[in-house]
Amino acid sequence: MDQFKISGGRKLEGTVRISGAKNAALPAMAAALLTADPVRLENIPHVRDIITMAKLLAHMRCRVESPDIPPSSFVIQAQTVSHAEAPYELVKTMRASVLTLGPLVARFGYARVSLPGGCAIGARPIDLHIQALEKLGATIHVDHGYVEARAKRLRGATFRFPKITVTGTENILTAAVLAQGETILENCALEPEIPDLAALLAKMGAKIEGAGTPTIRVEGVEQLHGAEHAVIPDRIEAGTFIVAAAITRGNLLLTHCEPRHLGAIIDKLKSCGVDIRCEHFSDGAAGLRVRGSGKLVAADLTTEEYPGFATDMQAQFMALATQADGVSHIRETIFENRMLHASEMIRMGANILIDGNSAIVTGPSPLSGAPVTASDLRASAGLVLAGLVASNTTTIDRVYHIDRGYERIEEKLRAVGACIERISPGLEPNAGDEV
Ligand code: UD1
Repeated sequence: MDQFKISGGRKLEGTVRISGAKNAALPAMAAALLTADPVRLENIPHVRDIITMAKLLAHMRCRVESPDIPPSSFVIQAQTVSHAEAPYELVKTMRASVLTLGPLVARFGYARVSLPGGCAIGARPIDLHIQALEKLGATIHVDHGYVEARAKRLRGATFRFPKITVTGTENILTAAVLAQGETILENCALEPEIPDLAALLAKMGAKIEGAGTPTIRVEGVEQLHGAEHAVIPDRIEAGTFIVAAAITRGNLLLTHCEPRHLGAIIDKLKSCGVDIRCEHFSDGAAGLRVRGSGKLVAADLTTEEYPGFATDMQAQFMALATQADGVSHIRETIFENRMLHASEMIRMGANILIDGNSAIVTGPSPLSGAPVTASDLRASAGLVLAGLVASNTTTIDRVYHIDRGYERIEEKLRAVGACIERISPGLEPNAGDEV
């Protein structure tokens, strides 16, 4: 299994180009199942989850092509899908495979998708995806670890999500676009990945109103056609580099990002004393200048659905809190077990008290390099950040987690002055440990 070896204590300075959002690219790739025409997707990050989704679509007999190496755009054509199934072997390495359920049953009337099961950060059921599809008229059987959905044609209906779910909203949106009649989805997720998906679907001929608000209205159409779409920038990767600049007292310019999607993250980090400014380039694009020269001060944090502070940035914020002056109370509200990085940071010298889904971080604490283990994707990012300020060497095990969602993170960090290297003993990661 690959490891990262980090020698901490260097200021990060320079420019970082932010990649496309994996959480926008995954539903966009699944949406290509909705038409027989080619769908061209751009700004796709080269990360393991995207490769898994490409494999899954190829397994279903879609044509999946990328003109460039490494791939940053894909042309996906689901002319024939002879195998409307997402097998356990792929779903267990990436639970977002469940995003194929809605499009498959909507277009082909049948889908068989392995149940994802729990993962390190929580149980993460898909009961709400199933309830909503049933409301749209699908007959669903859960048997032998698989969800089997059938429907001659889905029928529009009103469904209120009892709890906000991001991939649940995406899955049902991509089902409703081909349903007969009007669908009204209430209490939808507001994350920017939802309007981005709706924008692609609209280019494919779908009739959608209200994406990005709690209520989405969809007028189903008979069929969709091909389209081209560039996915939005990755707000979590941008947030991670903002913390990297702040924690190392560095100075980074982040380009190709979307500051409007980073409101809660920017506000919280500004309240900790980080200097963050929007930059506008001559081509109209926006970027962020982050200076970490001032004193870092503690702040309390509660994770929330968008537009609140993202749970996917909680581990990175905790790394920052270990270096901030004062006491930070951190409360995780989205997943049941998302504090696994805290015990590893404690091993590096952080002063953190964990109580269930809350943590009290007292800083600043000098961190000392140690061997640590990444438990999930965002926890690994938190540990990398801690390693950047720790004395001596930090070795992070199981970095295949970070490869799922960050494009060449060690190369991007090295380019701005970090001392980080990947050690590859040539062993394959354990594919059963997805989170
Ligand atoms: C998505 C993101 C993930 C992010 C999360 C929350 C993708 C590929 N992943 O995950 O990075 O951390 O949103 O912002 O976009 N729930 C149920 N039943 C369901 C569905 C969800 O109880 O049917 C619960 C979950 O267990 C969790 C909460 O709802 O406690 C939110 O989960 P959800 O928004 O669905 O997360 P994901 O879409 O899996």
